[in-house]
Formats: sequence, C-alpha cells, structure tokens
Amino acid sequence: MPNAPTLTSFGPGKVILLGEHAVVYGEPALAGPLSLGVIAQGSPASRCKLEIPPSVRGRGRKLLTDAFARAASASGLPKIGVAVSSNLPISMGLGSSAALSVACARILLRAAGKPEKPEDVIRVAGEMEREFHAQPSGLDHTCSALRTLILFRRSLKGIAPSVSRIQSPRPLRLLVALSGKRGPTWKTVTELKERVARWPAHYLGLIREIGRIAREGAREIERGDLDALGDAMNVNHGILTALGVSSPPIDELVHRLRGLGALGAKLTGAGGEGGAVIGLFLEPEPALVKLTQAGIHCFVSQVAGPQAL
Ligand code: MEV
Repeated sequence: MPNAPTLTSFGPGKVILLGEHAVVYGEPALAGPLSLGVIAQGSPASRCKLEIPPSVRGRGRKLLTDAFARAASASGLPKIGVAVSSNLPISMGLGSSAALSVACARILLRAAGKPEKPEDVIRVAGEMEREFHAQPSGLDHTCSALRTLILFRRSLKGIAPSVSRIQSPRPLRLLVALSGKRGPTWKTVTELKERVARWPAHYLGLIREIGRIAREGAREIERGDLDALGDAMNVNHGILTALGVSSPPIDELVHRLRGLGALGAKLTGAGGEGGAVIGLFLEPEPALVKLTQAGIHCFVSQVAGPQAL
C-alpha cells in the first residue's frame, strides 16, 4: 500500500489584469492569484520523483519529468514522491504550469527541511517554468508564489526583477470565462516575437503603451477607481488585438461580458485561438448565471481587496 501523504502544498493559478505579452519585453504587468490551483501531496520515497498518471504519455510525460527533475535538483533532491491534482482549467491562460511549479517547489523545499522563503519558492518554481515555457517572463510563478496582486517587471540584461504588492481598498471581483481551445503559450509568444523583429515600428510603441496602462491601472486600483480600471482593461484588450494575439472566439466573449455589465473585459494570459477572458464586475453573479445557462464554462474569483465574511 502506498505511504499516506505526509506533506501537502498549494500553488494558485493567476489572472493577468493588464500587461500580458508586453511583460516579455520588459514592461510592467499586473496579475493576481486565483482561488483555484494545484495541490501537491508528498510521501516518503526511495528517491525524489513525481508520480505521473499512466494516462499522461509521450511528450507531456517527458516535459513533466524533466521540469520536476530541475526543481528536484534545485531543492536538494529530498527523498519524496509527489502526486498532484488540480481544479484549475489546464492550458487556458490561467497559469496552470506556474501553479504546478509553485506547489512542487513548496513541497520539495519543505521535504528538504528548508524554510519556504518566497525567494526560494520563486527560484525553484522558476526552474520548472523554464522547462515548460523556454523563456517565461516570470510573472506567472511569481504571482502564484506570493499569492497577492502584484505589479511585476521581469529581469532583463542582468537587472533583478521588480515586484510591488498592490493593495486594493475595494474588492476586485472577476468573472473568468473560457472559450475554445488554444495552443501553447510559447507558440503565441514566439509568433509575436517574429512579427516584432520583422516590423518593430508597428509593434514597439503598442508594447510600451501596454506597460503605461498597466502602471496606470495599478494606481487606479490603489485609488479604488474601478471604472478607470475597467476602461484600462478595455483599452488593453484593443491593443492585444492589434498585436494579433486575440481571435474571434475571444473577442466574442469579451463583447458578451461587456454586454452583461462588465466595467471592463479582456483576454488574460497568452491568448491565441481561444483561452480565458476576464470581466471586472461589481456583482458578477447575474452574469455568471447567464453564461452558465448558455453552456459557457465560467467562474467568479476575487483577486484582491477586502473579502466578504
Ligand atoms: C503568460 O501567462 C503570459 C505571457 O505574458 C507570457 C509570459 O509572461 O511569459 C504571454
């Protein structure tokens, strides 16, 4: 009989409120944690290993094995077998790989008898994320590890990343809705990079503008100005569309959320042929009911601000 789990840890998913893609180019982005995420459970084992269900085969299995091996050696190879489960939609732009990486990093550090300092969780989770995404900005796993709303700027040319915690005096309540299927993040990021390299004059100004809107959005949150934040989200979505990372199913859902009373709505994450869309609402429940009745997979999450008791 397998050993009963002795350790558990959690890595939350994330939503990007403002700034995806531009963050890859060194602009700031604003992201907050979801209540959904990945749970890791660990039990003593003869060697450090990830228990991968037999149904996961081929490239997916190799990717998970290689990513876990990087985190295992970064945390000192504790003798633990780790099993994971998730209630987060996978590969929809909600940070599922970062949530997995953070859950594994936490449990590995704990099993190795090391304190779970945020910088160590970010370092170990970053090893896994680099296997999944080649050159991620670091936004997703930093947000998941810190479990709070952050304005993040990636490390570039040897300069350390900058992370500011953003306090919201008002609840930031989002309706997260999913549309269709999408390709991997690295593909959308790489295709945009190719367009930027070919026609920089078309793109670099738009990318800088997204960074400006993310900085401004963080100030609007701190002032409690949700109308302004909603408008920033709408403008950000328009620029993402101009960058070519949206698609008809995403745009359709964005317009639907606005029609249902969202203060602002946009794609979140890498975008592509489908993925997650967020709408900022004062009261998201009526829209949740309508979309659910229409067969759209959606849920509500508060990403910052005072929680209702
Ligand atoms: C990741 O969720 C979103 C992107 O900005 C990629 C990255 O930050 O590495 C598109």
